[in-house]
Amino acid sequence: MNEPRLIPKLAGVCGWPIHHSLSPLLHSYWLRHSNIAGAYVPFAVQPDKAIESFKSLKKTSIVGVNVTLPLKRQAFLSADTHTSDAAKLGVANCLYKKGDKLIAHNTDLQGFAVPLLKHVSPQKLAQSSVLVIGAGGASRAVIGGLLSLNVPEICLMNRTEAKAREMVKSVDVPSLYTRSWLERGEFVSRADIIINATSAGMTGYPKLDLSLKNVRPECLVYDLIYTPKETPLMKEAKSKGCEVLGGLDMLIEQARPSFKLFYGELPHEEADPAETLYNALKTGVR
Ligand code: ATR
Repeated sequence: MNEPRLIPKLAGVCGWPIHHSLSPLLHSYWLRHSNIAGAYVPFAVQPDKAIESFKSLKKTSIVGVNVTLPLKRQAFLSADTHTSDAAKLGVANCLYKKGDKLIAHNTDLQGFAVPLLKHVSPQKLAQSSVLVIGAGGASRAVIGGLLSLNVPEICLMNRTEAKAREMVKSVDVPSLYTRSWLERGEFVSRADIIINATSAGMTGYPKLDLSLKNVRPECLVYDLIYTPKETPLMKEAKSKGCEVLGGLDMLIEQARPSFKLFYGELPHEEADPAETLYNALKTGVR
């Protein structure tokens, strides 16, 4: 008689602001295609109330949440336990519950690596020289991902050089180093892979000031930005004969393991949300 009524599994994404997030559309798309009784909604969480809000998840029937800017560090600090991927980065983009514990996880490493591995074999990666531009939060996941893929040479460059130096110092591995921002053109010519982990080139922002004049056509250019679908950097890379990879695949691949944690199964492989996401980006309707 006192048995709880089965309720749909509720999850969501927390950020401040959050209205722009594509995650509700993405997870709802997968929920529909997987026939799961669940829902996924955006939660606006004030940064100064974030830790309190995350801890209170344990008192609710919410199965878990994704976390986006600027709350990823607070999410990490709110948890009782951290997975090794979250611990590696010191930030969490996913919180879920196990028994009476709140667990912090980070799926960005996987989100970054899965699309890359579709283009470059692990053997080739283990012999590659990679140029990473940017030293913010996205760059941290990129560096972590490249290190876990055994990339032997990673040159990190950032417009504000002190931030790149700080990151190199905190990671402290011989394969990761930095050089002056002024030397970036020179490093373009030796890179097997170039990764843009800055916001430059995003719709409404200035384009990245990086000339691909000396890029080798075998070089893969991976831009983490997904608006626009093809950034000026990707366009230039294509004109040089390079293979390019945009950021939408990373968005989808970081969401996939969260979906499994929240709803108990992976989304169907055949359910490809890319077109739905691009339509939303084009029309602005979420
Ligand atoms: P995220 O968490 O998305 O990485 P962030 O922490 O604000 O965001 O970092 C943004 C990154 O983009 C930084 O490395 C920033 O460089 P600075 O440290 O010099 O600010 C980089 N960035 C933003 N606009 C840029 C531009 N026009 N040219 C080069 N780098 C830019």
